[in-house]
Amino acid sequence: MKMIRRLIPIVLTSSFASAQTQIDLTQLENYANQPVPGYITRDNTTVGNAITDMGATLGRVLFYDKRLSRNDTVSCASCHIQSRGFSDVATASTGVAGQTGRHSMRLINARFSGESRFFWDERAATAEAQATMPIQDHAEMGFSGTNGDPDFNDLITKLSSIEVYQVLFEAVYDDPSITEERVGRAIAQFVRSIQSFDSKYDVGRAQAPNDGAPFPNFTMQENQGKDLFLRPPNLGGAGCAGCHQPPEFSIDPVSRNNGITGVIAGGTDLTNTRAPSLRDLVGPDGSPHGGFMHDASLLSLRAVIDHYNAIPALNANIDPRLIMPGGLPQRLNLSTTQKDAMEAFLKTLTGSNVYTDPKWSDPFDATGNLNAIILPVGGSAISREEVNGTMHSRIATSVVPNVTYGFQSSENLVNWSETIPVKAAADGSIELLVPDVPGETRQFFRFCYPPAP
Ligand code: HEC
Ligand code: HEC
Repeated sequence: MKMIRRLIPIVLTSSFASAQTQIDLTQLENYANQPVPGYITRDNTTVGNAITDMGATLGRVLFYDKRLSRNDTVSCASCHIQSRGFSDVATASTGVAGQTGRHSMRLINARFSGESRFFWDERAATAEAQATMPIQDHAEMGFSGTNGDPDFNDLITKLSSIEVYQVLFEAVYDDPSITEERVGRAIAQFVRSIQSFDSKYDVGRAQAPNDGAPFPNFTMQENQGKDLFLRPPNLGGAGCAGCHQPPEFSIDPVSRNNGITGVIAGGTDLTNTRAPSLRDLVGPDGSPHGGFMHDASLLSLRAVIDHYNAIPALNANIDPRLIMPGGLPQRLNLSTTQKDAMEAFLKTLTGSNVYTDPKWSDPFDATGNLNAIILPVGGSAISREEVNGTMHSRIATSVVPNVTYGFQSSENLVNWSETIPVKAAADGSIELLVPDVPGETRQFFRFCYPPAP
């Protein structure tokens, strides 16, 4: 296949200032190496799909793209809202064809758990498997292949016709083809990247030898609440830690249900054995992200504590830890002071950065466009050679076939040359010959998409 070969005249006149919200693959957000406190050890990352900055960036775009729904109206973020802890204040969330059957789950610290299954009833075996299920749900995003809906292959066809996705998949997977597996892996990386470790609890935990020791930054009331949370009922505690395992506050993988058996639309459901991490139960302003539990039936932390204080009734799948020695449902007999302390402690589990950090925010602009995607050019793609007495950089790389990119160069990574459109050959190759600029020692190169940002 004949390569495109071009001599590039560089005119360093314009500077292209980077907008805040653009996707810049030369300056990726840090998803892969975020600081995680040393006391956090539980991790459900699927072998072979560790977070990469590039993969999570693609996942972020997919997570916020309404085109992943049948009628372009619903994205993952419609029901998992950053400012609401990636949950939804509505009891049931609205999808393309009706309401969800359960309350939306917070996605914070989903990775840091001994439980690797997802959903309230754990029906998804991994985050990767989970990630494409809402897309294939008739009510949620509508590529179900049932009830007259298009199916997932139709979504693949739809996404494949969107050039920017070819550019992104090529950048992440070195190949522009879009598959269900790749969509799931990228979204799972983004979801697992959503983390919150800047709570008052974390400040205290870092200073204490273990969870049980009093935290120096806690009030007496918060330390009392922590003690109640940790200690089992037979030792005067409330036994919460048995199922919501600190310091992750993730659900014990073998937990059964907690006596909440309602269904939003009416009925009984005994299958809910998973809870999201109890971190960020309430936002930084203290308000909950909608009702608690799968049916959002408990509207305050106090209502949650009252539930465990006196479990209303036994059921066929209730966790044995909530049954008292005589066979009756749990009665903790907490005093008002103790309930207040427990509530104060639960509020220390809320962080602040996760609600606003741009790396987890919507990358689309108000009109639904994605700002310039900028791709690095470096390493083995560049070689040096002399042509007619002048040194040149030869750029030979592979991108998406037949797609037109914008090419730019810079001496200082701040001012970039005017954008020169270059179209990749039918085999995806691009080859350029760029003369050195007299008096300059270094040149940097990049491709933009769209070609004229
Ligand atoms: C129409 C609303 C809606 C949409 C759209 C939606 N979700 Fe959800 N999500 C929910 C609800 C409701 C639950 C709980 C459902 C259940 O357990 O049955 C949930 C649960 C989850 C969970 C499980 C969390 C846990 O800790 O087990 C993950 C992860 C998740 N969603 C990610 C996504 C992703 C990724 C997308 C987009 C591909 C998405 N959601 C689209 C409403 C929605
Ligand atoms: C036997 C295991 C078990 C024990 C003990 C337990 N929980 Fe739970 N908890 C669960 C399960 C399972 C769920 C999910 C239930 C559902 O929604 O149906 C849950 C849900 C919750 C939720 C709602 C989370 C959300 O995202 O809506 C809160 C809050 C909570 N528990 C707090 C506590 C506190 C506080 C204690 C101690 C007083 C406690 N839990 C004791 C198993 C347990």
